[in-house]
Amino acid sequence: MNAVPEAPRAPERGDAVLVAEGLTKHYPVRRGLFGHATVKALNNVSFALSRGKTLAVVGESGCGKSTLARQLTMIETPTSGRLVIEGEDVAGASRERIAQLRRHVQMVFQNPFASLNPRKTVEQTLGEPLAINSALSASERAGRIAHMMRTVGLRPEHAKRYPHMFSGGQRQRIAIARAMILDPRILVADEPVSALDVSIQAQILNLFMDLQEQFKTSYVFISHNLAVVEHIADDVMVMYFGGIAELGPKQTIFANPRHPYTRSLMSATPAIFESDRRIQIKLQGELPSPLNPPSGCTFHQRCPYAIEQCRIEEPRLREVDGRLVACHRAEEVGDADA
Ligand SMILES: Nc1ncnc2c1ncn2[C@@H]1O[C@H](COP(=O)(O)OP(=O)(O)OP(=O)(O)O)[C@@H](O)[C@H]1O
Ligand code: SF4
Ligand SMILES: [Mg+2]
Repeated sequence: MNAVPEAPRAPERGDAVLVAEGLTKHYPVRRGLFGHATVKALNNVSFALSRGKTLAVVGESGCGKSTLARQLTMIETPTSGRLVIEGEDVAGASRERIAQLRRHVQMVFQNPFASLNPRKTVEQTLGEPLAINSALSASERAGRIAHMMRTVGLRPEHAKRYPHMFSGGQRQRIAIARAMILDPRILVADEPVSALDVSIQAQILNLFMDLQEQFKTSYVFISHNLAVVEHIADDVMVMYFGGIAELGPKQTIFANPRHPYTRSLMSATPAIFESDRRIQIKLQGELPSPLNPPSGCTFHQRCPYAIEQCRIEEPRLREVDGRLVACHRAEEVGDADA
């Protein structure tokens, strides 16, 4: 049997380009006229991202995926926890250094309509990061822009066009080109294909994978769709209510998920498990309110496996069968249904 660590295992550093240790983000909110409350959007999230690999982050709406993305891209400062990029602790870095580190961690958003400036041509959109961060001449910049446009499947002769002159998929290609033009080490993509037609999604996913092959970029790829995740991930992190439910290699988790929540997500994705004999878990009830978190396991009110212990004691993230899982009954969950 695997050793059971006391706390979430310190992520393996090895060739990690990014390490998160206990990342936590709480938002103070107003309640009523004078009241205050705290939304615990992200709780104690630890993982390591390897060079050239993809960590997919999955979970329902409101589970903290975008909050995590904002901490990783240094758009926000975490309430507690550590973020280490290329071996450097962001908390100890000077403001100038953080500005440099931000260049290495780029982001692609869900909606290319909102994330691109409608008044800027492709050339201006792609040229701006180069003008700010490089000493390239205007003609060198134009050459780089044309090359990047070709790399993402756009025609360089369209460089003077505005976003509204492109389709949704092409617009997302522009956003990807903007993120990639400074050759970042890490790309955080927050639901980058969810807003696109299904027929376009596979093309954009393939583009992400081609770019990773070419540039060895590491991806944190956020998606609520397990079919997408199965396509692109090396590792999978399933989040529930701001925390990690299950984290491990894609094959291990897809072959035999050991958190009831992971199983319920998979049951709800028929394309993946067409010939599956495993029992279906239907999610009951809504996500609990982040202002009023449940005691014990945050999933206990919705979990078909819940026992008395689950209501009282919060499950630690521990290693079971080649992955990390936060469930008192993880050993039984996978085996009982297989
Ligand atoms: N700035 C903020 N102030 C207060 N609460 C916030 C803030 N940002 C996020 N939250 C809350 O934190 C929780 C996590 O939100 P987040 O946007 O990270 O979820 P998500 O997983 O990205 O959801 P979705 O799939 O809908 O994009 C939610 O309860 C949300 O309402
Ligand atoms: S700890 Fe209990 S309630 Fe939570 S997922 Fe496991 S069995 Fe379900
Ligand atoms: Mg989100």
